[in-house]
Amino acid sequence: MNSAHSHDSRRPRRLRHSDGIRRMVRQIRLSVDDFIQPVFVTHGSGVRREIESMPGQFQLSVDELERECQTIVDLGIPAVILFGIPEAKNALGTESFAENGIIQQATRKIKQHFPNLVVIADTCLCEYTDHGHCGILNSDQNQNLPQDYVLNDETLATLRNIAVSQVAAGADMIAPSGMIDNMVASIRSALDENRFEHIPIMSYAVKYASAFYGPFRDAADGAPQFGDRKTHQMDPANVSQILLEADIDVAQGTDFLMVKPALAYLDVIASLKNRHPEIQLTAYNVSGEYSMIKAAAKCGWLDEQQVTMEALIAMKRAGADQIIAYHAKDAAAWLNQ
Ligand code: PBG
Repeated sequence: MNSAHSHDSRRPRRLRHSDGIRRMVRQIRLSVDDFIQPVFVTHGSGVRREIESMPGQFQLSVDELERECQTIVDLGIPAVILFGIPEAKNALGTESFAENGIIQQATRKIKQHFPNLVVIADTCLCEYTDHGHCGILNSDQNQNLPQDYVLNDETLATLRNIAVSQVAAGADMIAPSGMIDNMVASIRSALDENRFEHIPIMSYAVKYASAFYGPFRDAADGAPQFGDRKTHQMDPANVSQILLEADIDVAQGTDFLMVKPALAYLDVIASLKNRHPEIQLTAYNVSGEYSMIKAAAKCGWLDEQQVTMEALIAMKRAGADQIIAYHAKDAAAWLNQ
C-alpha cells in the first residue's frame, strides 16, 4: 500500500501552527474574576511581616489592610479570604467569636473601606485554640474516645457562634474548614435563625489531611501542638468518600464545594464537577503548592510566571469555578499586562 494513503489525514498540528490559530482554539481562560486572595491578619499596628516560608505573603495588622485591599481591588480581584492570628488562645478558642476578635475587626475595617470587595471568613478553630486543633477536644468528656479527639457535636456549637459573629461583623460568606460532620447544616440554621439567610456557605467539603499545608501553619500559627488532623480531614489515599462528603454538603445547602489541596488533587476536582455540575466548585491552591513554585523560581529552576499560570489553568481545566490562590495578585498583574 502507498504509504501516503495509509496515513491518517487528521493532523492536530494544523490547529497549532500559528499564534492566531492557537488563540482561536484556546478553551480555558483565566480571569481575575476567578481569584480569591488569602489574607493573614494579626494584632498590633503597622505590622507587615513577610512569612518566611511563603515569600510575597504577609501577616498584616488591621491598619495595614486598607493599603493591601486597595491593591487587591485595583487589580480587579473580587474576593479575599481572611485568616486571623489571635492575640490570645485558649482551649475553647473563644477569640474566634469575640466581638473584637481579630477577624471581626479586620472584616469591619475592610467592609468600611471596600464595601464591594467580597469578604470570605474561614470558619475554624485551629488558629484560636492553644492546642491548635480544629475543635473542642474530648479531654475526659467521652470515655470511649481518645483524649485528643476533636468532639464533633460540641464543636458544631462553636462553629455556629463563629459564623454568626463573622457575618455580624460584615463577612459576605462563611467558609467552614474543619471537616466536622454536619457543619454546613449547623451553620446554615444558625445563619438563618439570625436573619442571615442571604449569606452563602463555601464548604471545605473535601479537604485532605495534607502535608502541603506546612507553610500555612507557620503563617497562621495553627499547627496542632500534638497529634494530627487525620480523624477529620480525608486520607490522601481515599477517593470514594469525596462523593459522600460532597453529597452531604449539597444536601445541607452549601453554595460552594471546595477541594483542597488543588494541584495534587485535580482528579478530585474533576470528579466533583461531574457529580455536582449545578454547584460552584472552588479549588484551594494551598500554601505548600505556592511555596514550591516560589522556591524553585528563586533557584532559577522554573519560570515562575509560566509555571504559575499553567498550574492555575490546570485547576480550571479540571473544573474549578474559582481558585483560592496566594498567587492571585501576581496572576492578576500578569493577566492585566
Ligand atoms: C484551617 C485551615 C488550614 C488551611 C486553610 N484553613 C490549615 C489546616 O487545615 O491545617 C490550609 C491552607 C494552606 O495550606 O494554604 N483549618
